[in-house]
Amino acid sequence: MTAEKSQGGIASTEVPPEQWKRIDEIIEKYKHKQGTLIPVLKETQEVVGYLPLEVQQHIAVGLRLHPSQVYGVVTFYSLFTMTPRGRHTVRVCLGTACYVRGGQYIVDLLRKEFNIDVNQTTSDLRFTLEVINCPGTCGLAPVMCVDEDVHGIPEPEKAVEILKEYP
Ligand code: FES
Repeated sequence: MTAEKSQGGIASTEVPPEQWKRIDEIIEKYKHKQGTLIPVLKETQEVVGYLPLEVQQHIAVGLRLHPSQVYGVVTFYSLFTMTPRGRHTVRVCLGTACYVRGGQYIVDLLRKEFNIDVNQTTSDLRFTLEVINCPGTCGLAPVMCVDEDVHGIPEPEKAVEILKEYP
């Protein structure tokens, strides 16, 4: 279980033993069936949160595929990611209504507070920060979505306060 570099704020990460166990169970469930790579990758990503190379190699061995076949599928389909994601996805809206009401200040404050850039993940794998363009709740602008929750953010500091509620 080697460390892997990511593009986010993470220097290295490891797949914990219980997740390897779950991956083996997924492989076991599918290994005697045909055309199972995509469901195996999907379920594995649900467990690990992303598909690092070491996991892809493990799946390749388990399904008796060449690692390049697995890599090819992971990089082809946008639903798969090789970048670690946080437990919570924080999306700040930069659509027109939110932008004019200070959406960018929220982004800047969160970047500073969590020491990450947009599209990066905190080193404790708590948050992934993204920007979006109008989820359709302009009445609350400026808006920050955390997973499925939508929050109106009257002051940028309020964003930091709200995120304390997400472990
Ligand atoms: S512009 Fe942000 S919710 Fe519409």
